[in-house]
Amino acid sequence: MKRLKEIKNNELFYNGYSLTALARKYGTPLKITFLDVIKDHIVSLKASFDKAIKKNNYPAKFIYLNANKANYGALEVIEAFKHADGLETSSYYDLLFTHELFNRYPEYKYKYIVCNGYKLDDYIGEIIKIHNEGIKIIDIIDSVSEYVALKKSGLAIEVGMRIHIEAMYSEKEEEIKNDRFGLMDSEIDYILNDIKNTNLTLSTIHFHQRGFDYEEDKFEANFEKVFNKYYIKAAKLYKSVTNFNMGGGTPLPVDEGFDYDKWANYVLNLIMKLCNKEGLPYPNLMSENGKYSQKDATVNIYKVVGIKYTDKYPWHIVDGSLLIAMPEMYALGEPIEVRPINGLDQEMVKGYLAGITCDCDDVYFEKDKGYINLPKIDELYIGLMGTGSYQNSMNGKGGVHHCLLPEEKDLVINDGEVTIRSELQSIEDIYKIMKL
Ligand SMILES: Cc1ncc(COP(=O)(O)O)c(C=O)c1O
Repeated sequence: MKRLKEIKNNELFYNGYSLTALARKYGTPLKITFLDVIKDHIVSLKASFDKAIKKNNYPAKFIYLNANKANYGALEVIEAFKHADGLETSSYYDLLFTHELFNRYPEYKYKYIVCNGYKLDDYIGEIIKIHNEGIKIIDIIDSVSEYVALKKSGLAIEVGMRIHIEAMYSEKEEEIKNDRFGLMDSEIDYILNDIKNTNLTLSTIHFHQRGFDYEEDKFEANFEKVFNKYYIKAAKLYKSVTNFNMGGGTPLPVDEGFDYDKWANYVLNLIMKLCNKEGLPYPNLMSENGKYSQKDATVNIYKVVGIKYTDKYPWHIVDGSLLIAMPEMYALGEPIEVRPINGLDQEMVKGYLAGITCDCDDVYFEKDKGYINLPKIDELYIGLMGTGSYQNSMNGKGGVHHCLLPEEKDLVINDGEVTIRSELQSIEDIYKIMKL
C-alpha cells in the first residue's frame, strides 16, 4: 500500500497533497477527507486476502464489511459501500440508513447487510422487511429475546450468533473492561438445540474483541477460542454454518509498514489448522472494518494563532479545539498523531498545544516527553492525522460545540477533485440548532 505521509520541501504531504497549501488555500480550521484512502484501504485488504486465498487454494471467500458506526458521513459510507462486500449495522437507525443506500444504489443490491447490536422490535422489523425484499441480510443474534422474535416470524432469515467474549484484555490496559455483548454458553446451547425446529438458517459465528490496539497474541487467543469452542460445534451440527465473522479490530496504522499480505496468510492458516484438526470444510471469513476503513481518510488542520507563557513551555493556541476534534483520544486514549506540518527544517522549540476553548483539558503534548517540538515560525499549522473514525459520532458533528466554536470547514477530496462539503459553521447555523 502506498505511503500516506511524506515530507517534501520541509512540509508534510498527505496522500500526495501539501497540507500546508490546502490550509492556505481554504483557510483553517479545516477538516479534509480523502475518499480514495477509504477505497485504497478496502481494495488493498481484499487483495491481500485474495492473494492468501490463491496461495493456499482456500476454497471459500473473504467478505469485507464496512462497519458504518465508524463514520456516518454519507460520502464515506457510500465510498466504502462501493468497494466492500457489504455494510455492517449496529442500530435500527443505522439499518434504516443502510436500507436507504441499498435503494439508492440498486447496482449493489447483491451485497451483504450484517446486523449487530442489541435489537428491539423496530430493528428486528426492519431486518424482516429487508429480508422479504430479497436482500442478503444476516442478523447476528445478540440476545435470546431477539432469537425468539425472529423465530416467531416463521421466515427463513439467515442468522448468526455473537459469542460473548470474557474480559481478555491487553496488558497495556490497566483496567479490565467488561463487554455486555454476545450470547452466553447456555444461550448458545439453547439456540443450537432449538433452531432446527425453526425456519431460521444459522450461517455465521461472530465475535468482536473490543477496545485495544491489535496484539497478535490476544487476537489469536480469542480467535482460536471462539473457533474451537463455538464455530466447530455449530458447523458440526449444521451444514448451513459457513461463515466465521471476526468483527473489527484489523491492525493499524496502515502507514507504518504492517504486512497485510502476511497477516491475511496467517489468519487463513489459523482457520485451516483449526478446521483440519476436525476434518471440517473451511468457512468464509467475514471482517467488519470500522477504524481500518475510515480512520486514515481524514485529517484536521489548525493554525497557531497565539502564544502564552504561563507555564514551563509556551502554550501554542490553535484556531479550533483539540478536545472536540479528538474526543476518542481524550476519553479512550485512542492514538491520533498530532504534529506540525510546515517549517520542518526550522529551529524547534518545546511547547504545548491548546485549543481556543475555555477548557483546561483542551491541550495536547506528548505524554512521554511532557512537551511537543514545534517549529519556531510565524505561520505554523498543526495536523491531526487520522480523525476519520468515531470522532464525528462522539463529538456530535453538525451540532453545537464547546464554547460555541464553529465546526471546521469540511473538504472532501476524491481523485484530485476538491469539494467543499460545508463551510466553516456560521453563528446563524449554530443559532438554528440552539433553536434561538
Ligand atoms: C460488532 C462490531 N463489529 C465491528 C466493529 C468495528 O471495529 P473497528 O472499528 O475496530 O474496526 C465494532 C466496533 O465497535 C463492533 O462493535
